[in-house]
Amino acid sequence: MTVEAFAPAKINLSLHVTGRRADGYHLLDSLVAFADIGDRIRLTPAAEWSLAVEGPMAPGVPTGEDNLCLKAARMMGGPPAAITLIKELPAAAGIGGGSADAAAVLRGLNALDERPLPAEPVALGADIPVCLRARAARMRGIGEQVEDVPSLPPLYACLVNPGVTVPTPDIFATLTQRENAPMPDIQECTEIEEFAVWLARQRNDLEGPARAIAPSIGVVLGLLAATSGCQLARMSGSGATCFGLYPSLPEAREAAAEIRAQRPNWWVAATPLG
Ligand code: C5P
Repeated sequence: MTVEAFAPAKINLSLHVTGRRADGYHLLDSLVAFADIGDRIRLTPAAEWSLAVEGPMAPGVPTGEDNLCLKAARMMGGPPAAITLIKELPAAAGIGGGSADAAAVLRGLNALDERPLPAEPVALGADIPVCLRARAARMRGIGEQVEDVPSLPPLYACLVNPGVTVPTPDIFATLTQRENAPMPDIQECTEIEEFAVWLARQRNDLEGPARAIAPSIGVVLGLLAATSGCQLARMSGSGATCFGLYPSLPEAREAAAEIRAQRPNWWVAATPLG
């Protein structure tokens, strides 16, 4: 029997850094949504654990014990499985990647034989708890506190990655302002226009440090902001992927086509968010 699990791209619509714990981990307050594009995980019971990586974004992805998928599998324990990761998303890109994949392994193993999920998934990575749920949520603490949010209006995004990898620890290390205001209550609205006005008042506190390390992020944000119908352009996570928000999927697709035409080597995708 083979089980498949989907690992959707995670988008931080906002990401406030509100403090730092004694162990160096940062306290976050983030509104997170998920795309309908992502990686896929296949799990087949086997004599021992193994990992194979396929797909367009496979080159460069580690397949050894340091891959988060294998760490997640070993943390969960139980009978071993052969894991295949079909990699569609760019790695180290601020949209979940390794965390989304590891969370999908946990979900997949749970679906395979109902083995229990780990009690502390955050020990695998700050984004694992929110990626386990894979639906819009507010994330606090270092990522271990995940809450439901009021329903968001229909949102469509154009995701753009300029092909630079920005290591998350480097971004946090260069952050100078570590105690920023948390997010206010999330405004419930039915129209993207109203929601975008609220969201524009929120921030991604990692955008400044990431732009300093990878100036192409500023170019991406400029191109997104100039596309027709774009309500807001912002970076996700610690970058370098940025998103533009649009009222409809055709508008998001049009923006994607425009940017692809200008920058054929960038990774560009249009998707609903939810
Ligand atoms: O947990 P994850 O592997 O995603 O984190 C990568 C690195 O990012 C951590 O080692 C830490 O340096 C930094 N980080 C942080 N505070 C968080 C999440 C990540 O300082 N809440």
